[in-house]
Amino acid sequence: MEWKLTREPLASVATDAIIVFHSKEKESTQGMAREIDEALGFRISSLITAGEITGKLGEVTQLHNWGKIPSGRVIVVGLGEGDQTDLHQFRHAIAAASRAAKQKGLKSLGIGCPSSIIDRYNAVDAVQAIVEGVELGTYEHQKYQSETKKQELKSVLISIPQLNEQAAQAGIERGQIFARATNFARYLSHEPANILTPRRFVEHAKQVAEKRGLDMEVLDESRLADLGMQALLSVARGSEAGARMIVLSYQGAPESTEVLGLVGKGVTFDSGGLQLKPSPFMLDMKEDMAGAAAVLAAMDAIGELRPHSNVLAVIPVCENMVNGQAYRPGDVIRSFSGKTIEVAHTDAEGRVILADAISYAKRKGATRLVDVATLTGAVVVALGHEATGMMSNDEEWADEVKAAARIAGERMWELPMYKEYGIYVESEIADVKNEGGSPAGCIQGGLFLQAFAEETPWVHLDIAGSATAPRESGIFAKGATGVAVRTLIQLAVRFG
Ligand code: BES
Ligand code: ZN
Ligand code: ZN
Repeated sequence: MEWKLTREPLASVATDAIIVFHSKEKESTQGMAREIDEALGFRISSLITAGEITGKLGEVTQLHNWGKIPSGRVIVVGLGEGDQTDLHQFRHAIAAASRAAKQKGLKSLGIGCPSSIIDRYNAVDAVQAIVEGVELGTYEHQKYQSETKKQELKSVLISIPQLNEQAAQAGIERGQIFARATNFARYLSHEPANILTPRRFVEHAKQVAEKRGLDMEVLDESRLADLGMQALLSVARGSEAGARMIVLSYQGAPESTEVLGLVGKGVTFDSGGLQLKPSPFMLDMKEDMAGAAAVLAAMDAIGELRPHSNVLAVIPVCENMVNGQAYRPGDVIRSFSGKTIEVAHTDAEGRVILADAISYAKRKGATRLVDVATLTGAVVVALGHEATGMMSNDEEWADEVKAAARIAGERMWELPMYKEYGIYVESEIADVKNEGGSPAGCIQGGLFLQAFAEETPWVHLDIAGSATAPRESGIFAKGATGVAVRTLIQLAVRFG
């Protein structure tokens, strides 16, 4: 998508459509929408009076130009409670409007950046939100149909009367990098498991490493066996697809010993293993690598932005399948850390492979950790698809991740890690077990992983709910959301 800036008012630009905003409980149009309204003979105002335009967040009303302005159409989009609109809602509104434009087959858009948003935030963040809103809102999943009609939005012109060119340009660049990375993660998560196999995932990682000049190490089965990574190898054994541990490293602050470690669950298909999932639950399990996708996509963006920080990504990839070699309930596995794991449930495989990945990230020098994983059905029960479940062993580090998420516009909600929950992962035969019944299912996942993070400040993000959107809404298409990518990039930027 081509992005351009102008000081010209929207009323005089010539695009297929211009987007203006309206907030709830305002009786008439304001700011740029006012100018357009006047040019159109107050047609927008009359729709407001008639109650057809309410300003509800994401409400889209498409009007023609009646020969009064150079642009072909006017799209009025609701901003919600105008005085409190935050960047999250602003992005949502832009996404809804630009998606509507794309669906109509329009190619070029003009968007007026409201001065109220610039005043409340700043030009960089406001423009970044516009770019993210359009690029995320108009994203479509890869299709495998012989006949697909592809609509494409080609260019967007942002009108800012009091334009600070440098700030706005920075906003465009950041918005493009953040959105492109998010869409890359969406693409990976959406790819079917027969296409995005563990090997294919490694190929994607290689491409990222080459493009961004990142150091890369890929541990294959024999290396994994030499290193004693039986946790990852045990889960992988039920499939012909094999296992890989992908390690990518970006060094933007060689003088510093601080290293941000990002770990992502890369189960390219989760059948549940011998304790097979009931069919309806298995259907979406191609997305069980959304954590790995988020980490890889974030590394792509970090390699492009080149912040002053060191970032290490560790991504275990495999399938959880069933054959004669598959790991069994009751098995005891020795992990890379030396700790033994009792397999209480073969479907709690994510935490098992992450155990080795977290330990390896520490071995490779990570001083702070964030893992991202579609770990539990329990988090979907607790938070639905609206928020990511967060757990941590370190309050300060959790606050830092929350701050990054807030800036990125992603919702994360912290769950408690009271010591008393520890009984659920205590094993009678091994150091830990990977499942302990139905209470506090999401927290059990966190507690199990904490046993491997040990003293290193660590945050666990359970994205089993937030990685998918059940329906199209705001910046989300139905399906993979690319959640956590923007938070991870933001974290790497702040980490320096
Ligand atoms: N991949 C699933 C979790 C999941 C559920 C992801 C729904 C996306 C949507 C995970 O490996 C799993 O199966 N977890 C089990 C754990 C249980 C056996 C302790 C679950 O949540 O049922
Ligand atoms: Zn599972
Ligand atoms: Zn899983």
